[in-house]
Amino acid sequence: MKQAIALNVNGDIYEVLISPNQTLLEVLRDKLGLTGTKRGCDLGACGACSVLLDGEAYLSCLMLAVDAVGKEIVTIEGLGEGGELHPIQKSFVEVGGLQCGFCTPGIVMTAKAILDEEPEPTEESVKKKMAGNLCRCTGYKKVVEAVMDASGKMGGKR
Ligand code: FES
Ligand code: FES
Repeated sequence: MKQAIALNVNGDIYEVLISPNQTLLEVLRDKLGLTGTKRGCDLGACGACSVLLDGEAYLSCLMLAVDAVGKEIVTIEGLGEGGELHPIQKSFVEVGGLQCGFCTPGIVMTAKAILDEEPEPTEESVKKKMAGNLCRCTGYKKVVEAVMDASGKMGGKR
């Protein structure tokens, strides 16, 4: 049986009719058309589906959409402001922290959560906190460099 819920995504309220067993990832991509959030493994193993819920990074493939009701959800589409890329996105572009880009939305959202919690992290800390985000292209060196660059650009700001 379908259920009507309201989700707060990127500052907008979306009213959607869902099945109780639908994941947040499915609803974001298939109902709301927010396809920046990627479906990699659909098993909680790759991090490609990472989004922010009340400021913390979550795997949207492991969360039921109904459990996201009442939370502030931010996806990659909601990170920049006024048509401008977020400083983290700029750093990934400038440093070259991506190749095919499939993992990048999830990595950028995790980076946002990391830098909000720890504005001036060490490389070791970034590596540790980014361990759940897999990338099959970059070898991670440039990913870590991009997060460190973003930390500098943001100057400790959120
Ligand atoms: S798609 Fe969610 S962790 Fe891989
Ligand atoms: S850039 Fe291709 S998987 Fe990460």
